[in-house]
Amino acid sequence: MGIAYFEDNRVFKIDSKNSSYIIALLGDEGLVSHVYYGHKLKSHEVNYLIHMGDHPGAPAKDSSGRAGFIGGYPKEYPTNGVGDHKEDAISIRDKKGCFSLELFYKTHRIYKGKKELPGLPSAFGTEENVTTLEIECTDPMSGLIITLNYSAFEDADVIVRSVNIKNGGRDDIHLTRALSASMDFENNDYDVMTLYGDWAKEGQINRYPLSYGGHTVESCSGKTSPLNQPFMALLSKGADQDHGEVVAMHFVYSGNFLAKVQLEHYDRVRMLMGINPYCFDWLLKPGDAFQTPEVVLVRSEEGIGGMTRNLHDFYREHMIRSKYVHKKRPILINNWEATYFNFNTEKLVSIAEEAAKAGIEMLVMDDGWFGKRDDDSCSLGDWFVNEEKLPGGLKPLVDRVNALGLKFGIWFEPEMVCPISELYEKHPDWAISIPGREPARARNQLVLDISRKEVRDAVYKMIYDVLKSANIEYVKWDMNRALSDLYSAELPPERMGEMLHRYVLGVYELQERLTTDFPDLLLENCSSGGARFDPGMLYYSPQIWTSDDTDAVERLSIQEGYGMLYPLSSLGAHVSDCPNHGTGRTTPFETRGIVALSGTFGYELDITRIPEADRKQIPDQVKRYHEVNHIVRDGDYYRLASYASNHRYDAYMSVTKDKTEAVVTYVRVIHRMCEHDVIVKLKGLDPEKTYSIEGSDRNYTGEELMYAGYCFKTPWASGDFKATILHLKEV
Ligand code: GLA
Repeated sequence: MGIAYFEDNRVFKIDSKNSSYIIALLGDEGLVSHVYYGHKLKSHEVNYLIHMGDHPGAPAKDSSGRAGFIGGYPKEYPTNGVGDHKEDAISIRDKKGCFSLELFYKTHRIYKGKKELPGLPSAFGTEENVTTLEIECTDPMSGLIITLNYSAFEDADVIVRSVNIKNGGRDDIHLTRALSASMDFENNDYDVMTLYGDWAKEGQINRYPLSYGGHTVESCSGKTSPLNQPFMALLSKGADQDHGEVVAMHFVYSGNFLAKVQLEHYDRVRMLMGINPYCFDWLLKPGDAFQTPEVVLVRSEEGIGGMTRNLHDFYREHMIRSKYVHKKRPILINNWEATYFNFNTEKLVSIAEEAAKAGIEMLVMDDGWFGKRDDDSCSLGDWFVNEEKLPGGLKPLVDRVNALGLKFGIWFEPEMVCPISELYEKHPDWAISIPGREPARARNQLVLDISRKEVRDAVYKMIYDVLKSANIEYVKWDMNRALSDLYSAELPPERMGEMLHRYVLGVYELQERLTTDFPDLLLENCSSGGARFDPGMLYYSPQIWTSDDTDAVERLSIQEGYGMLYPLSSLGAHVSDCPNHGTGRTTPFETRGIVALSGTFGYELDITRIPEADRKQIPDQVKRYHEVNHIVRDGDYYRLASYASNHRYDAYMSVTKDKTEAVVTYVRVIHRMCEHDVIVKLKGLDPEKTYSIEGSDRNYTGEELMYAGYCFKTPWASGDFKATILHLKEV
């Protein structure tokens, strides 16, 4: 049984694959206390850990030590204003103006399986592999009923948490903070690890020692943003890819988030995650409930790599719903970096013709096919075909592309409107703006208020009609700016603080409709690259465009960061032309191909104009993709070396679950004159198996490769940016 309640000790014990999580009910009132999250235990009797000085249990309300106890005992879900004195998980404003509340256990339910969260992305499982605990608590003063939800997965070291908050009282209550998870535990000389970034620089790993005070990563831009990933990990001192303990939270949400860790004077750590309280204020009428999004709580005793493999398995099995999750995706060619806005049917067909010859399987028409869009100054929102570019509309183009044997995909940016557009002329009030204040434009565009149903319906109808008009098998759903000028014309003043969350719910509703109406559609999310790369979006799309930075060298650290959390099969990766349009760097075509092979793999270049020598390499790259994609897509991922930290070379590998095949990528970024060959110790192989390596004159045992290593030769004066890919097969 994954979850049990022990009446003798009044504890809940939640077991996932290798971990136990223990919660205790304290005192007559039933204070909900965090006891333990660590190595899997047989015992549930560890609530002796909870003591505050002389107080082994919860002191009575009138005892002199009560305040000290309330301030100090480790909590599952800290509440505001009653003496906790640290970052809280929930705060309210009631009709008296009071913001305090307390949490007292009332009842609980344990059941096999896991419920969906209406309107929100959420992890899924079966009655065989997931068990759920709901701890229902009340705050008698406000009448709130707060249910803490925990789902434990047997096949992953993951517990998913969320909270449901219901107004069971008679008065309105404003929820001003409603985080999804919080946990108090002893410091273990931890390091903190988070991901920061920017446009075209997503997923940069940041690791630093936990020190007194607080560390925060957050988004305030209305979307996940590239600035911080909704992820935070604590690492035991010295933990590396293979050793040490890692405890992490990852948020299944695509809007403003807050991730925070605090270290206080008792050397107690609090880690919290949830919707950012910034601009958040949700009105709960009597009887109303608010459901928080989920936090994925993951633990590893095998270092960062263990956490990574845990998350990859978990997202592939329990988060990504798409039927394509375990399927080889069609190799696509996207025309964005090939033509930008300057294309027409003939140009696209010429790209498709050349692509077909090289074995590419799908043409994706990016931005510029609609309205009067010849640059980024206009037309977002006018989702009808620009017949000057595509005479006769989409169907003739798609038919010609299909006749060449290629599938066809299309780009939309459904959440946006340009002030120069027919849509804006008809419905200026649909754009998010504050009455009397000129809204700030970004890339000449405003954001549609898709928290409004009428706006969602109108946008959806346009997209639906386009998708029905031709054989379109893929959509790239883009979102290219942050939200500003926050105000929704439909919300009354007392509900204005709901707007940002309602916006995110609007995105989810639209993607739910799209994937329901078009179940065979391959959906790729995008937000100026990876600015909305989060587990919530993965629920709707099996892949997300990782970054607008397509430079193979830059991609190493970007893909390392996102690959640390997300399965490689979800990282959109393309081979582009050189000099790279973003960095001006020229890398060998072969290297670009090898780096893109560790993602979804595709091309983003004008295949009719690239150098002949490059074009000639495409069929080999395509062949390589077909040979190794199953390993990259469904295998176990191991990081061997990081260019971001050693500044010389990058190396990583994927191994099939049965360890019969592996693919190793090595990129020597900077070549030094005195450099020796580089020996890299491989990981995850079976030491007893013998492997062949294509192009090698000998076979190797797993033991040799893992403990002695593989030698990557460095020819004299061979230059920078050289890459090698090895395909290992058991002989
Ligand atoms: C964003 C995307 C790009 C491309 C452009 C089109 O920047 O990330 O891939 O689609 O928009 O405008």
